[in-house]
Amino acid sequence: MEDRQLPKWSEIRELLQFRSFEMDPVQRRLARAFTIADLRTMARKTTPKAVFNYTDGAAEEEITIARCRQAYRDVEFSPAVLRDVSDPDPSTKLFGRTIDFPLVLAPTGYTRMMHNDGEKAVARVAARNNIPYTLSTVGTTTVEDLAKAVPDGNNWFQLYIAKDRSKTEGLLERVLTSGYDVLMVTVDTQVGGARVRELRDGLTIPPTLSPQTFADMALHPSWWFDKLTTPPIEFASLKGFGGNSAEVADQVFDPALTFEDIAWLRKVWPHKLLVKGIQTVKDAERVVELGCDGVGLSNHGGGSWTGRPPS
Ligand SMILES: Cc1cc2nc3c(=O)[nH]c(=O)nc-3n(C[C@H](O)[C@H](O)[C@H](O)COP(=O)(O)O)c2cc1C
Repeated sequence: MEDRQLPKWSEIRELLQFRSFEMDPVQRRLARAFTIADLRTMARKTTPKAVFNYTDGAAEEEITIARCRQAYRDVEFSPAVLRDVSDPDPSTKLFGRTIDFPLVLAPTGYTRMMHNDGEKAVARVAARNNIPYTLSTVGTTTVEDLAKAVPDGNNWFQLYIAKDRSKTEGLLERVLTSGYDVLMVTVDTQVGGARVRELRDGLTIPPTLSPQTFADMALHPSWWFDKLTTPPIEFASLKGFGGNSAEVADQVFDPALTFEDIAWLRKVWPHKLLVKGIQTVKDAERVVELGCDGVGLSNHGGGSWTGRPPS
């Protein structure tokens, strides 16, 4: 027969320890996020579907993004055990600066649409962890405001070369004056991607919301409250371009862009220059020959067109 004993409170107490209640709702949510997938699930709950789809979706049938995810899943590491890993050091040097982890936070447009803290929040996280943050040309925080909000950040700027080069030069002057010293020019969005989720939701420029999208948005009052009580969602750094958002968007992406424009940019930008969206050795060699300092090996998360290989 098994040995039995009377239940002891001291042993039960050991098991019954609950998390203390976190008053701050953001911290409470974050404490429940153990993986990126958990954050994605939370984003789906806290933002309207169309906003979630803008962030989560990609172009056409989303084949490239599916391949990217699979490529990461397929990575295998050879397990070399019995090495002292008590003090790992993932820091590295990038463009003369030490960064604490080999990661650069990529540019995202419209970031304040997801959450009103938007670009500033992402840049603060990057600064806190000593990694670079890249502000997008089509960001919803100006070049100046971001630099002021995160003065100690390793802040980079992502450029779309506008059809009117003098407007790009004007923008670059502001970028320079605000202290950014790494420029990342994106070359794989000469035309906007055919992002089917956005077309279905009607989250286009200008918006053509479907009744379902509008009804779903109405179910997120706190998102609305944030949007209505904070500055409007717009291409913050491009106000001087003139016109409404559709007219600005039309000026920002130039389908006629060539390597000659990269040579021109190399002349007008005095600091580090990266070209984002390169995926072949030949193209990488050409931009390096033009004096660029590196490439962003990227398929835009499958967001510009689909069928591109995982980087
Ligand atoms: C919501 C969202 C907005 C984005 N906006 C921009 C942008 O304004 N400029 C840009 O160059 N890339 C933009 N991207 C692409 C990312 O910078 C990045 O290339 C992509 O997430 C994939 O990462 P990878 O390039 O490291 O493979 C955006 C991506 C997302 C998800």
